[in-house]
Amino acid sequence: MTSIATEIGRALLDVSGLTTRFHVGGGLFAGRPSVVHATEDVSFSLGRGRIVGVVGESGSGKSTVGRTILRLETATAGSVLFDGTDVLGLRDRQLFAYRRRVQAIFQDPGASLDPRMCVGDTLAEPLITHGIGGRSERDDRVADLARQVGLKTDALRRYPHEFSGGQRQRIGIARALAVGPELIVADEPVSALDVSVQAQIVNLLQALRDDLGLALLFISHDLPTVEFLCDSVVVMYLGRVMEIAPAADFQQAAAHPYSRMLIRNVPRFGGTLDDTATADGGETPSPLRPPSGCVFRTRCPHAIPLCADTIPPLEITAPGRAVACIRKDALP
Ligand SMILES: Nc1ncnc2c1ncn2[C@@H]1O[C@H](COP(=O)(O)OP(=O)(O)OP(=O)(O)O)[C@@H](O)[C@H]1O
Ligand code: SF4
Ligand SMILES: [Mg+2]
Repeated sequence: MTSIATEIGRALLDVSGLTTRFHVGGGLFAGRPSVVHATEDVSFSLGRGRIVGVVGESGSGKSTVGRTILRLETATAGSVLFDGTDVLGLRDRQLFAYRRRVQAIFQDPGASLDPRMCVGDTLAEPLITHGIGGRSERDDRVADLARQVGLKTDALRRYPHEFSGGQRQRIGIARALAVGPELIVADEPVSALDVSVQAQIVNLLQALRDDLGLALLFISHDLPTVEFLCDSVVVMYLGRVMEIAPAADFQQAAAHPYSRMLIRNVPRFGGTLDDTATADGGETPSPLRPPSGCVFRTRCPHAIPLCADTIPPLEITAPGRAVACIRKDALP
């Protein structure tokens, strides 16, 4: 299957039919072996300097998509092309080179920072690993990175525990930027921060995109932030893409019944998606046993018997828009 273009021209990242399943159980005390359908047939594209948001309730497969693109999980099927090169087949030196071009930031910046390393060394480490620059060039680069993310130069001598959550995330971002990536996979990078700090980090990410032409895959529970920051939105449910749409008018123009359900739930949950959103339309089925046909049918107010028989293909409905619903033309 071809991926859904969210812009014109060759994509920087082209994800097509990406499927990642986890085999669980089967041990002495772990019950019968079964398969977690974490992502199934996920397709989308991301252009240079663009920001694509990935949204969906907890467990919908957002992180697994990001981690599979980063080669932290092993794909079961599908393809990921980065600048035209097959990422899933990369080995050794090519994989090392890929890791320079695609970096990651995570929800908890503290977890990815070594508490025994001062910030200056933390930022220099990836430069050393990738053999970038001599001692004095590295020092200059580290000072530039600190400035770029809004850290004072005296921060370089201090240790992670001396910083607030927001400042630690700035350090995490600077570390990701150190090797000059073209794409950053940002998995809930502001979710753990105070609301007032979230906006500062989101503004920083936007400035980095504008100044450096950086592309971002922005995984988030927060629809208003996605609408503000992103160019397009990929909506996931139970491992599958339900809809791809421009971000700017997502909350007004969403077409898929699941997207609309998420949007309805936003005010109720303080502006963010939450697994308690299952209150609307009942429980989310287990990814161990996803429903036949459309995976959303057990919660969908528009389901008809045919929805149990057919997996709806993700079909382009307009430039940059695609919907996976067999009733998309008949919905009110
Ligand atoms: N390593 C793993 N082994 C087994 N199951 C896994 C593994 N990683 C993820 N899963 C399962 O895959 C599904 C998708 O998980 P994932 O973390 O990608 O969802 P998510 O959308 O990022 O959720 P959240 O919003 O809570 O971060 C979930 O059912 C999860 O329990
Ligand atoms: S295919 Fe059927 S169950 Fe799925 S979203 Fe469309 S109407 Fe609802
Ligand atoms: Mg996640």
